[in-house]
Amino acid sequence: MDFLESFKLVGKNALVTGGAKGLGKSLSKALSDAGANVIIVDVDEEEAKQTIKELSANGEHLALKADITNEKEVSDAIKIIIEKYKHISILVNNAGICQRIETENMSLEDWKRTFDINVNAMFLVSKYVYPNMRDNGGGSIINIASMAGLVSLTYSQSAYNASKGAVVMLTKSLAQEWVGDNIRVNAIAPGFMETDMTKPMFENDGPLSFVLDLVPMKRVGLPHELGGTVILLASEASSFITGTVISIDGGYTII
Ligand SMILES: NC(=O)c1ccc[n+]([C@@H]2O[C@H](COP(=O)([O-])OP(=O)(O)OC[C@H]3O[C@@H](n4cnc5c(N)ncnc54)[C@H](O)[C@@H]3O)[C@@H](O)[C@H]2O)c1
Repeated sequence: MDFLESFKLVGKNALVTGGAKGLGKSLSKALSDAGANVIIVDVDEEEAKQTIKELSANGEHLALKADITNEKEVSDAIKIIIEKYKHISILVNNAGICQRIETENMSLEDWKRTFDINVNAMFLVSKYVYPNMRDNGGGSIINIASMAGLVSLTYSQSAYNASKGAVVMLTKSLAQEWVGDNIRVNAIAPGFMETDMTKPMFENDGPLSFVLDLVPMKRVGLPHELGGTVILLASEASSFITGTVISIDGGYTII
């Protein structure tokens, strides 16, 4: 057994939703460094194209524009990817949003928008990728949850917390349904990471010091700190791991 070899992703095709920037960009970079061809599906086409240029020169990468809350756009994008790459062997369901609104002031539209992107789109993309993975020998699905799906974060984000709880249970459900098709489904639950989504926390009047008091490592995470785990979960190195959630949060959820 060559252990280092088992982490390599050469010849694999990885679809990353929301890979244009933030955590998705870093996840895309990690997968391409391990040898995968990366396909980024994002609403922000310009940024996605720019990110593709920054990935490892060895792979055949692609940026596709789609709003993954729209079923037709999802099915069209998957069709294009399958025509070009034949087998989607890795799916990283990463795109997500976080709106901080007190529950009493939240409109139904805002509540639904969070669920549309964080949960419903994850269901849609997984559903449309599944037949291709099944018919081509299987694959690995990695859902980006959050520590907010494991413990309640108090920053006026009930919809986000509830949506990430749903991501955790969707991960376990799909792992169980698709285990017989050689498809593994796992989740990564990041803590506070420095991206556009958490920008308000890093601004002068944001709750950064209060937040850091709750993180045993006393710092926020950097996007590249998810890279090793996504390679692990995408590769043969995790061949006996399915239905699990790996926390990457500086110890926030220890207690
Ligand atoms: N940043 C954090 O601290 C943190 C912590 C835990 C979990 N997460 C999760 O990580 C994931 C990425 O977060 P981020 O901080 O990188 O966010 P981000 O806002 O920096 O990037 C999100 C990306 O998703 C894309 N996107 C948004 N809606 C889309 C849609 N409908 N269709 C297609 N693409 C869409 C955006 O264009 C963008 O490129 C999210 O699921 C988020 O909940 C983030």
